[in-house]
Amino acid sequence: MAKSFDVVVIGGGPAGYVAAIRAGQLGLSVACIEKWKNPQGKMALGGTCLNVGCIPSKALLESSENYEKLEHKFADHGITVKGAAIDVAKMQSRKDMVVGKMTGGIEFLFRKNKVTWLKGHGKFTGKADGGYQIEVAGDEGIEVVTAKNVVIATGSKARHLPNVPVDNITVCDNEGALAMPAVPKKLGVIGAGVIGLELGSVWRRLGAEVTILEALPAFLAACDESVAKEAWKQFTKQGLKISLGVKIGEVKQDKKGVTIDYTDAEGKAQKLECDKLIVSIGRVPNTDNLGLDAIGLKTNERGMIDVDGHCRTLLNGVYAVGDVVRGPMLAHKGEEEGVMAAELIAGQKGHVNYDTIPWVIYTNPEIAWVGKTEQQLKAESVAYKTGSFPFAANGRAWGQGEPDGFVKVLADAKTDRILGVHVIHAHASEQIAEAVLAMEFVAASEDVGRTSHAHPSLSEVMKEAMLAVEKRAIHN
Ligand code: NAI
Repeated sequence: MAKSFDVVVIGGGPAGYVAAIRAGQLGLSVACIEKWKNPQGKMALGGTCLNVGCIPSKALLESSENYEKLEHKFADHGITVKGAAIDVAKMQSRKDMVVGKMTGGIEFLFRKNKVTWLKGHGKFTGKADGGYQIEVAGDEGIEVVTAKNVVIATGSKARHLPNVPVDNITVCDNEGALAMPAVPKKLGVIGAGVIGLELGSVWRRLGAEVTILEALPAFLAACDESVAKEAWKQFTKQGLKISLGVKIGEVKQDKKGVTIDYTDAEGKAQKLECDKLIVSIGRVPNTDNLGLDAIGLKTNERGMIDVDGHCRTLLNGVYAVGDVVRGPMLAHKGEEEGVMAAELIAGQKGHVNYDTIPWVIYTNPEIAWVGKTEQQLKAESVAYKTGSFPFAANGRAWGQGEPDGFVKVLADAKTDRILGVHVIHAHASEQIAEAVLAMEFVAASEDVGRTSHAHPSLSEVMKEAMLAVEKRAIHN
């Protein structure tokens, strides 16, 4: 007799494991199918984010930033260190330790919330008793389970270039880029998006000569233009070489490394030779080999599963969340959708406010934003006011030796409702949370401007930028 659950979640990344935990909290019987094995052959929850994405990359960012501080910043504080060296193997094993803690933490949360982890690859095999039948193929063989409700949370994988095989040793996607055993002398990166900039920065800080080739003529086109301009200034000053408007031609690999033929923005033929190459040109949803045909579900032209604003598919009881559906491929967006799906299944009124999902790029300075950019408001003919405030006018930022960057606020010209907030600063990922909360509560810029912010703190810059909307910032 097949095991039966109220909810089966396929995929144990941030969207899926959160859906499973929330369903467990709500008293539903729930299983989560996950097949991930780490390089040591141990099965692990957490998906791309915890195993080969957000969490390991932040561990390496911290290590490389510490090294850069030691090399270039500590002397300003009167601290000198002789004989600083990098032990990449130790850096990588610390990263593995952080990943192990986080993935193990989810196993604990599953036990706490009575979520059954079905280890293996999940695939629909048909409909059953008003629900769905799913086959789980694992190391121990095949198990068939049934579920009244299913949440598809199978995530995404790196998009590769045609005819450029990724071995994750010399030509890498996110997995190999996070696992390099030594600092490459020359590192090439194709794609100046979030992964290219974050990982390009990590290896540059550790001493690699990094060249990034980007197809689009504009840098960070999704960001507010003023932030993209500042980021370009900072990143190129740090030594990242970025070429925009390129067209990648042949990519050849030999024993010495990789050669990339490309044409530059002027149409001139160019050649980049490097020891290692990172290909970071976006991600594609994992919707193949899921047995969608068996239940009559199709993917769209982008390989995604079509859903409504509540992540419901065309089939009763089947939801899809995270990277397999429309919207940004961000872990926290998937988490919100996972909670929503579980709550809807439990008969509650789940909801996601897609207008207040923050974006963060973990470079240094970090870039974070929520809501509209100035160019979007112009294109939509919305009348707006703007205020910005530099970290260079903040005492705490100087104390920390991080005075670069600013906060920019866009507010409705008539109602003063906050429409967008953009931060570029070393700690932008933490500061954006205040703006998200303000927008979630439909705050006016004046509401935040009149709120007391601790002194001295970086958060004062947010307050002052809000005050600047009415040209009444105090310290600028
Ligand atoms: P991305 O979409 O951020 O950037 C890809 C870049 O590659 C784009 O600028 C694109 O124009 C360029 N590109 C595409 N084809 C190209 C070609 N043939 N030649 C040269 N350039 C080309 O994708 P990325 O960086 O691979 O990240 C994948 C996903 O992972 C993103 O959707 C992102 O949301 C998510 N992610 C989020 C992070 C965060 O929130 N901090 C961190 C890492 C990943």
